[in-house]
Amino acid sequence: MKFLPPSPRTFTFRSSNLLLISTCTCVLIYVVVSLILVFTSDFYYKSLSSPVLAPTVIEHIAYGIASSQNSWPKQKDFVKLWWNPRKMRGCVFLDGLTADYSGDSSSLPPLCMSQDTSRFRYSNRKGHRSAIRVARIVSEAVNLSLPGVRWFVFGDDETVFFPENLVKTLSKYDHQLWYYIGTNSENYEQNRIFSFDMAFWGAGFAISSPLAKVLAKVLDSCLERYPHLFGSDGRIHSCLAELGVGLTREPGFHQMDIRGNAFGLLAAHPLSPLVSLHHSGHTNPLFPNMTAIKSLQRLFEAVDVDSERILQHTICYDRWFSWTISVSWGYAVEVFDYHIYLPDALQAQETFEPWKKGGVLAGAHTFNTRPVVADPCKRSTIFFFDGVSSGKNGIIKTKYRRFLHDNCTYDPKASAKKLEEIVVITKKLDLNIKQLQSPRRHCCDMLPPSADQKLEVSIRECTGEELVYMHA
Ligand SMILES: *[C@@H]1O[C@H](CO)[C@@H](O)[C@H](O)[C@H]1NC(C)=O
Ligand SMILES: *[C@@H]1O[C@H](CO)[C@@H](O)[C@H](O)[C@H]1NC(C)=O
Ligand SMILES: *[C@@H]1O[C@H](CO)[C@@H](O)[C@H](O)[C@H]1NC(C)=O
Repeated sequence: MKFLPPSPRTFTFRSSNLLLISTCTCVLIYVVVSLILVFTSDFYYKSLSSPVLAPTVIEHIAYGIASSQNSWPKQKDFVKLWWNPRKMRGCVFLDGLTADYSGDSSSLPPLCMSQDTSRFRYSNRKGHRSAIRVARIVSEAVNLSLPGVRWFVFGDDETVFFPENLVKTLSKYDHQLWYYIGTNSENYEQNRIFSFDMAFWGAGFAISSPLAKVLAKVLDSCLERYPHLFGSDGRIHSCLAELGVGLTREPGFHQMDIRGNAFGLLAAHPLSPLVSLHHSGHTNPLFPNMTAIKSLQRLFEAVDVDSERILQHTICYDRWFSWTISVSWGYAVEVFDYHIYLPDALQAQETFEPWKKGGVLAGAHTFNTRPVVADPCKRSTIFFFDGVSSGKNGIIKTKYRRFLHDNCTYDPKASAKKLEEIVVITKKLDLNIKQLQSPRRHCCDMLPPSADQKLEVSIRECTGEELVYMHA
């Protein structure tokens, strides 16, 4: 009886046991293999470091804005244009406090007092020793120890930033590496004197967080070595050069070292999001009949609807009348009564004057220009931005109105001078990283005219091999 053959029941039990064990083993192997795969794969890398690889947003930027107690009351309205107290961090650095600005505190950056810099030597005859205080804003901003900062961005109280575009532009770069991003001057002479490879402070510039932290540690020692330099930006440039870091130029930053009518420059913006504008108090207001601040507020009406498209330059050709139409989105539309080849239409018209008077080189710019037509009656007709509306279907309509009228005689049928209003139809621009790295100008269609004094165009992405030219 002892050696009974296993009962079918026991057998069933054993076989189910075996099944259970083998299933467990299989599951175990599956889990182990999956874990190995997951841990070695991109997925695991991304999920572990997701806070690092998440897209850069406005909250990742800390600003250091250079101002002074004399200048701040006059300039703070420029900062108010773009500052968002709920999303932005940083400080306006002052050399002292005479007035009480507490009434503005809800719409402006916090004020920080610059530290004493009288121990540093300053020996430049033309400049002012406040350049040392301003250069040190870089280390003092880093020393605020704000958490989670990817980029430190510097500018002055006359620098108008376009924050969404700044973020988009910086998002092309890995903030974990060392970057010094900005632009030099539009004026050849300014670059020759101060350096083509320097980020001009007024245009604004960005330093990636790891580089800014290193710079903050060594800057004081650099300041000792460069008492002879003119400005704050030269001191930062020199110290970064000692660290072995060069400037990465981004054409969306604008020092605006020009005077007078900036129209030509703004109406021919490079194929890159607008990041900053400087010197608004030194050029004419952007729009006729308005103050500098009111003009910028008008521009921001368009920025608020489609920040990335602001000033983006598109050329349309009207084959019927042989017109060349130049759209600088959200700012102005210019209509020429004749054909201009595309590369020429993309060049800035020299409506502005040089930054400084002087020899031949004083008026030399670092980009191509074409002269303004001498005869006022042969010039283009300009329409300035006059309002934006966006529909539920994602269609954005901007209107441009003719403000300036001349007394020229013109062909009432064929001349663009008969027009009073231009309507431009677009969709919101939202470029991804690849489109930012490899940008392509948009194309333009003429829409059937709805009224004799009105012209409507629609801007869209070009198709594969599409060329922009005046069709015969
Ligand atoms: C920044 O903080 C460090 C450590 O507290 C200090 O040694 C340094 O002097 C500070 N630098 C500036 C510019 O405030
Ligand atoms: C300029 O402003 C004045 C005063 O506000 C106004 O009367 C005039 O119509 C404006 N001109 C144009 C062209 O808008
Ligand atoms: C056009 O003519 C009127 C009347 O003669 C004059 O007041 C006005 O200033 C002229 N406009 C321009 C732009 O020349």
